Amino acid sequence: YGTATINTTGNLEIGGIDTVKLVEKYGTPLYVYDTSLIRERARAFKQTFDNLGIKAQVAYASKAFSTVAMLQLIKEEGLSLDVVSGGELYTAIKAEFPAEKIHFHGNNKSEAELIMALDHHVGCIVVDNFYELEILSDLSVERKQVVNILIRVTPGIEAHTHDYILTGQEDSKFGFDLQNGQAESALLKALESEYINVLGLHCHIGSQIFETTGFILAANKILEKMAEWHAAFEFTPQVLNLGGGFGIRYTAEDEPLAPENYVQEMINEVQKETARLKLPMPEIWIEPGRSLVGDAGTTLYTLGSSKNVPNVRKYLAVDGGMTDNLRPALYDAKYEAILANRANEQPSELVSIAGKCCESGDMLIWDLQLPEADKNDILAVFCTGAYGYSMANNYNRIPRPPVIFVEEGEDKLVVKRETYEDLVRLDLPITKSVSAR
Ligand code: LLP
Repeated sequence: YGTATINTTGNLEIGGIDTVKLVEKYGTPLYVYDTSLIRERARAFKQTFDNLGIKAQVAYASKAFSTVAMLQLIKEEGLSLDVVSGGELYTAIKAEFPAEKIHFHGNNKSEAELIMALDHHVGCIVVDNFYELEILSDLSVERKQVVNILIRVTPGIEAHTHDYILTGQEDSKFGFDLQNGQAESALLKALESEYINVLGLHCHIGSQIFETTGFILAANKILEKMAEWHAAFEFTPQVLNLGGGFGIRYTAEDEPLAPENYVQEMINEVQKETARLKLPMPEIWIEPGRSLVGDAGTTLYTLGSSKNVPNVRKYLAVDGGMTDNLRPALYDAKYEAILANRANEQPSELVSIAGKCCESGDMLIWDLQLPEADKNDILAVFCTGAYGYSMANNYNRIPRPPVIFVEEGEDKLVVKRETYEDLVRLDLPITKSVSAR
């Protein structure tokens, strides 16, 4: 995975740094990001559009992993940014991300969040529903402020992925239905609104997708509507945003395409279709999250207790679990792992990796081949960079791990380890503590 290698002492090395040394320095659990890999992915997406001479924006879907340092890195790489809440927007502002390159998403943005977005003059708001359109229209008139929007549509495409991360199908909480007239009436409402400027349309068909078929079907459906509206309402869409969802390789079973291949196939098709429909070629925007950061992240844990269920299985417990990686519990997501301090040893037994939460479902990996492992060995779980830290939680009042960036032999702490004091920071007592009396 990425720049992960095994060094001469038999330890796993990431970004040129011995992970055992990282553990000595920062403790476990620990999220380690190989930032050179994030940069490489970002450049590959951008380069593909540039090579094809296509006007584009690659917006990092910050829900995958949002911290000030991460957004600074994305800014350095010249990408745009997708945020879905006031909190993500706030993080972007803290990172001094250029507001005109921020796209604001969400299916239930509050008026306060919309005001925040307008105050900061974000580049575009992806309007999801009539409720939002009305608030936004009123606000823009009140403030005499021009607002660029994309209209999010559901094209009725079912991507082959986990049910919970399907979003492009008709029966979805997101967006305006493209087929039943909803999207058209949203467009007409928006066009009528004095200060709203409709840049184009947006769709996102799902996540962890391995094929381009779904993207192409969705693009074609949208382009057809765009052509219809172009003819009927003299509306010329400038932007077609095809969302994110490009899959990555968590285990050997996963067979994703390279980022550039997803983009290339999509563009070919859009160019063909726009020519056929006599529609001006729009800018193509995409919103990769997972494919930019997923395989750049590795979580390091220390092994502690173990339990043998004779003839059934051996459980090895780590010092984290569903609090730092909710995906196995939530989606039955699969991961690969090795012993970071014995990375050159051959696997010799089948074990299952348990978390430390009071919950039977807190299992990180079922049936993993490892060398015979012992307490204090370090387990490295790969590909935890997307939706790991960002979905981390404090169940059982477990503090969240710190985040380290590594690149070319240098390590940098970018999120501090949460402390017990952090956990009670917002708590208010109902009785005075003994010490205060
Ligand atoms: N754009 C929109 C509108 C989205 O809803 C999403 C993800 C993305 C872009 C980025 O998708 P990506 O490239 O990361 O697949 N928590 C789940 C994934 C939820 C994805 C939600 N939307 C997981 O851990 O698999």
